[in-house]
Amino acid sequence: MVEMETLVSLCKQRGFIFQSSEIYGGINGFWDYGPVGVELRRRIKDSWWKRMVQSREDVVGVDTSIICHPQTWIASGHVANFADPMVDCKKCKRRFRLDEIEQDVLRHAQDEREKFKARQCPECSGELTEARQFNLMFQTHVGANQEEASVAYLRPETCQSIFTEFKNVQAASRMRIPFGIAQIGKAFRNEITPRNFIFRSREFEQMEMEFFCHPKESDKWYEYWVNERFEWFCSVGIRKGSLRLRPHEKTELAHYAQGCTDVEFQMPFGWSELEGIANRSDYDLSQHGKVSGKDLSYFDDAAKEKFIPYVVETSVGVDRTCLSILIDAYHEEEVKGEKRVVLRLHPSVAPYQVAVFPLTKKLHDSAYPIATELRKHFAADFDSKDSIGRRYRRHDEIGTPFCVTYDFDSEQDKKITVRNRDTMQQDRVSIDQLQRYLSDAIHSSI
Ligand code: GAP
Repeated sequence: MVEMETLVSLCKQRGFIFQSSEIYGGINGFWDYGPVGVELRRRIKDSWWKRMVQSREDVVGVDTSIICHPQTWIASGHVANFADPMVDCKKCKRRFRLDEIEQDVLRHAQDEREKFKARQCPECSGELTEARQFNLMFQTHVGANQEEASVAYLRPETCQSIFTEFKNVQAASRMRIPFGIAQIGKAFRNEITPRNFIFRSREFEQMEMEFFCHPKESDKWYEYWVNERFEWFCSVGIRKGSLRLRPHEKTELAHYAQGCTDVEFQMPFGWSELEGIANRSDYDLSQHGKVSGKDLSYFDDAAKEKFIPYVVETSVGVDRTCLSILIDAYHEEEVKGEKRVVLRLHPSVAPYQVAVFPLTKKLHDSAYPIATELRKHFAADFDSKDSIGRRYRRHDEIGTPFCVTYDFDSEQDKKITVRNRDTMQQDRVSIDQLQRYLSDAIHSSI
């Protein structure tokens, strides 16, 4: 499996992801997506939106504000409870999350005696301070007054406004239960220890869907969404063997949750959560109902029954999905005695599906219209810089499934060479058949 350092360096060099504000020394926990990274990200979101919203009759979308009424976070429990235990090392002054130190120590402890290390600094074995609860929400002020009453928060998850908009959306879209509301958007958490590249950052994006159903049907829908979400990860090209489902132990569950399963991916640093699917019971709507004083129950006309719907939530990070797709796609192999790095990205998420190369600069004007035509149907790049070998290398490293070369013979026979990224097989194809050829090749793998 690729090492994180290698991947981070490829991502920078090829324009997937840069450290935010690098020229000022960077800012921990924030990342910028470059020209090819933004394409990958966009395709992941498009794939999710298409599968979760556009291709279904029972899910609608919203796009809500990042800052919402502060009461939202009192009702949700975030103001009181969204905190991690923080400790400082008295010797080296580094800061840690106590639960992480404990987990690491317990995972590696050979015997009972070694467990005392959970109270020591993992870097210098210095003494740790007592743990303090650190709330992860970023605070800001709304309006010109910096006083207690103007405090607001950057949302730490996108789902709460889905709950507060439940009645509006249901009435406006005339949805009947069971139905879902989906949203993609930024979330912010002032993580004590952001780490592992984009795996845990302070600004990230979530894709969440809250499915409102009758309490008696919530187990059925929970099971349905666990399977459906697992399948989506496979549809964007992650191998089944790199994924697993991990149902939570009863002791891990939040007090309101009836069940929770994580989709996990085998990262270089171990099995890690990509998505959580949870049966959240009627907790969220009940809480917002209580704190706002508004009735958030639902009336079923047919059954003449009034109830507070249960919610099955699916919650996945865009950035963690990006990371797992990149890790799973990364391959190194030897070709004619040289190392080839190739990202075997699925064509539905690859930044470019095809790249057009004139063999030499002289052929630029003849090859250019081919790229212009292909752009109408595919994510296409035109690349005439550097040697042809370098151009292949660059496109292998950003995962372009097909490269098309226009050479001197093309001038006569009106054919071009199509090279397949994975097999490196080259086919000579008529220019007037090229769109069809690529369509068949790309859609047979989507
Ligand atoms: N509404 C439920 C919720 O937010 P969560 O497990 O805290 O649940 C859901 O977050 C997903 O959001 C995670 O599975 C992960 O993919 C992503 N996520 C959470 N914190 C993150 C962080 N600090 N950096 C990147 N992604 C994060």
